Amino acid sequence: MSYNISITKVETSKVDALDFNNIPLGTTFTDHMFICDYENGEWVNPRVIPMGLIPTHPAAMALHYGQAIFEGMKAYKDTEGAPMLFRPKENAKRLNKSADRMGMPNIPEDLFVEGLKELVGLEHNWIPPTDGSALYLRPFMYADEPFIGMRAATHYKFIIMASPAGPFFSKRIKLWAEKQFIRAAQGGTGEAKAAGNYAAAIRPTELAKAKGYDQVLWLDAAEHKYIQEVGTMNIFFKINGEFITPELDGSVLHGITRASVIEMLRAMNFTVTERKITIDEIKTASENGTLEEAFGTGTAVGIAYIQEIGLEDETIHVSDESPIGLEVNDTLNAIKTGKLDDQFNWMTKVEKELA
Ligand SMILES: Cc1ncc(COP(=O)(O)O)c(C=O)c1O
Repeated sequence: MSYNISITKVETSKVDALDFNNIPLGTTFTDHMFICDYENGEWVNPRVIPMGLIPTHPAAMALHYGQAIFEGMKAYKDTEGAPMLFRPKENAKRLNKSADRMGMPNIPEDLFVEGLKELVGLEHNWIPPTDGSALYLRPFMYADEPFIGMRAATHYKFIIMASPAGPFFSKRIKLWAEKQFIRAAQGGTGEAKAAGNYAAAIRPTELAKAKGYDQVLWLDAAEHKYIQEVGTMNIFFKINGEFITPELDGSVLHGITRASVIEMLRAMNFTVTERKITIDEIKTASENGTLEEAFGTGTAVGIAYIQEIGLEDETIHVSDESPIGLEVNDTLNAIKTGKLDDQFNWMTKVEKELA
């Protein structure tokens, strides 16, 4: 289906003022954003307009009851400079899964992808040309109905904004295995990319950073024993030649990088098992020398190599090298930037200036 997306362009782009070799993290936004409203049971008025403030009623339900969900993805340039999106339909599907859990309306996948294409086509000059850089895209949905009372809202906004992101220099990271706070419990919202999940993670992450760690390694809520995921990444271990990653048990985000890495590793003839993994199993594997690699996977970083895990007053040494992780990361980056054949059929090309 084709949507009638109206376009209002800025008079002068701000892109010339950006130093692509020194992009400030998360504070630069492109000239435009995509917006769509949900009223009377349908999505209406899809439009691209200049990036700017949105009038918000103080009783907007997202501010009080937290109906707010989001996605994170990136646009890249191929070798000829054409903008490309990585698996955008998967983000649309995941947003709708989050919406289902949070009592919010689904957005048609086609509208999600068309909105992305329209925005990225218009903003293609904002995609950083430097290796490892990309245009970060943030599709999100929130309840903007002014109402005091506990029920699903009837008005929502779906917005996509874009922010150029510089290269991420992968240093080996240190994780703190969290035994006091939890991220997600069975039956909770862990599988949704809901804003509240991140709010609840802020304080534990700050405490972990104060102890010298980069991110939290979340353990299960009931026993603080099983590994779930990392702050904004899923996690993989290589033990005795086999890759293992926590199963998607309802409390782990279905990472799109996770799914892609599983497919790539299997294509490389590795065994990848999705199952429950205890933190003690990782400690034992580290002690007996069978823990060969560990890395996190996510849109922001691609693959982040894990050096050690703090567990109460002990340190689990993980690895100084991640040859397979490195190979997978390089291959993934090359596919995303059109340097390697898109053998998995993951990339969606965007026409420049669709408008
Ligand atoms: C909690 C959490 N887990 C995992 C991921 C990785 O997901 P993806 O690979 O889709 O970016 C993210 C990032 O979106 C995240 O926020």
